[in-house]
Amino acid sequence: MCGIAGYIGKKPAQNIVLDCLKKLEYRGYDSAGVGYLLNKGLYTVKVTGGVDNLKQALQKNATPASVMIGHTRWATHGKVCTKNAHPQISENKKIAVVHNGIIENFLQLKQTLYLDGINLVSDTDTEVIPNLIMQKLKGKAYTIKNVLNALNKVLPMLKGSFALCILIDNLNCLFIATKFSPLVIGKTNTGVMVASDIVGLPQKAQVYKLKDNTLGLVFKDGFKCYNFNLEPVILQKLDVKNNGLDTDINGFSSFMEKEINQSPSALLNTAQNILYNNALSYIPKNAIESAKTFFICACGTALHAGRVLGYLLQKYCGIFCVVDYASEFRYKNNFLDKHSFCIFISQSGETADTLGCLELAKQSGAFCLGITNVYTSRISNMVDYCLFTSAGTENSVASTKAYIAQLCSAFLLTEWISKVLGKNIDYSYKDLLDVALCLKEDYYLKLQPVVNAIKDLQSLYILGRDIDYITAQEGALKIKEVSYIHCEAMPLGELKHGSLALFNNTTYAIVLLTQKELTQKVISNIIEMQSRGAHIILITSQKVDIVVDFCIYINNKKDVFSPFVATKVLQQLALLLAKQKNLNVDKPRNLAKSVTVE
Ligand code: G6P
Repeated sequence: MCGIAGYIGKKPAQNIVLDCLKKLEYRGYDSAGVGYLLNKGLYTVKVTGGVDNLKQALQKNATPASVMIGHTRWATHGKVCTKNAHPQISENKKIAVVHNGIIENFLQLKQTLYLDGINLVSDTDTEVIPNLIMQKLKGKAYTIKNVLNALNKVLPMLKGSFALCILIDNLNCLFIATKFSPLVIGKTNTGVMVASDIVGLPQKAQVYKLKDNTLGLVFKDGFKCYNFNLEPVILQKLDVKNNGLDTDINGFSSFMEKEINQSPSALLNTAQNILYNNALSYIPKNAIESAKTFFICACGTALHAGRVLGYLLQKYCGIFCVVDYASEFRYKNNFLDKHSFCIFISQSGETADTLGCLELAKQSGAFCLGITNVYTSRISNMVDYCLFTSAGTENSVASTKAYIAQLCSAFLLTEWISKVLGKNIDYSYKDLLDVALCLKEDYYLKLQPVVNAIKDLQSLYILGRDIDYITAQEGALKIKEVSYIHCEAMPLGELKHGSLALFNNTTYAIVLLTQKELTQKVISNIIEMQSRGAHIILITSQKVDIVVDFCIYINNKKDVFSPFVATKVLQQLALLLAKQKNLNVDKPRNLAKSVTVE
């Protein structure tokens, strides 16, 4: 993960780089740092914590430097401390590197450097890079040509993934390189920037995206890129209409609260954009008709949207569907071939494991469909066809409105596939408009007594049958990530095969009941839990005649749409719990929004 930034131009770089890093903080916020050139010297400033801490540290001693690199870190190798913050520098202090990615063979490389008498001081994988460059420059002048050649020798030694921005003492340029990690260049009137994501670039920048296995040089008025054979590479200018982040919290207490509130419009915009653009009709019909197996791969919240899509495809289209964690699927005997129809769901379109599965699917000749929220993302560009969700920028690490938008595309895609295959379906896109109305209702007041009862718990269960079990999984993820309460999602029917042994009068279980035909079975399960003393929080759309500790009624319009509203209730519960515990809702500890490493 991590966000990297760089600027070279006519203006002082400090505020430009800090502004860029702030926008990239969704990629990690464990520590931050900058490196800059001034008066023929290379300097670094590094702090633990987020970009605001770095800003404070730099304010004490603002620098007029006009060449700077910066980093916001999500710790992969080495704990959170200034020693492990980036930039990492070479032993001779002449080379500074910021890195996004993982160098998988870093221990081996460290060993080689150690045997050559080079002392590494951090626990990071990154530190090998400036030192390897230093080694390749041994006995040579630090000229642009020599550094480029040295870099070109070092890059093939690095196994894994990287986006790099490098400063060399005394050389008025930035060196950059990429392999399986994103990096964009933005040209403005006053200079040239590099960043991990377009959102980090100024609004009016001309944007260029680096391809994999590219290295380059950035000057104050332009850039040059090469492949790893040092042959020139021309980058295409991207047509970016709006690269701005929605950074206004609009009076809400957090982005998460604001984004939950935007769920109805995320659903409506997604439905409208897909339908008005006839987006589904561009999926080749023969890819659907000839598919033997459908595969759905994703991570985190996007995986849960994938589980709902898999459920719908099986239920309505009679399609055999494999839904798996991208991080698991990529290392299995996967049975992919040219008759496979693969779907990759990702809000960011940059998640490393999902991308890994996409590469495998492409190699096998499968048809690849993406569902992403970012037009310019790697997944959007790599798939055969991409369906876009229109959730707008999501700032909070915990995904909320993007999930609702993904659910919307899952329902529309299923409707389309059922039509292509001549199957019957008992809902239409019009029903989704009613769901958007149902999503407008807030549950904060009804949930507050529940929050008071469970806020100090160490552990909690969320249980449901059928599609409710998928909602339980998404709800448990939300509660864990923002409130730090351990929350286990389970299919209700599985409870008595082990976990019921843990139930007693201190146990709290959230039970979802939204499917009419399962009502009696769920009630029996509730009674079983109550018989062991458990407290029940019931979230239901059904009329039930049972006494529970708390009951929240919801309106789903139709049972199959329950994931929309039931998830919203659980999102609001997670948010309230986090607020009650005074936690940083938008930036939960140890997490990042975009996971670009395995
Ligand atoms: C991270 C985020 C989650 C997200 C997951 C997948 O873990 O914190 O909110 O669901 O990545 O991200 P993607 O961008 O692929 O949907």
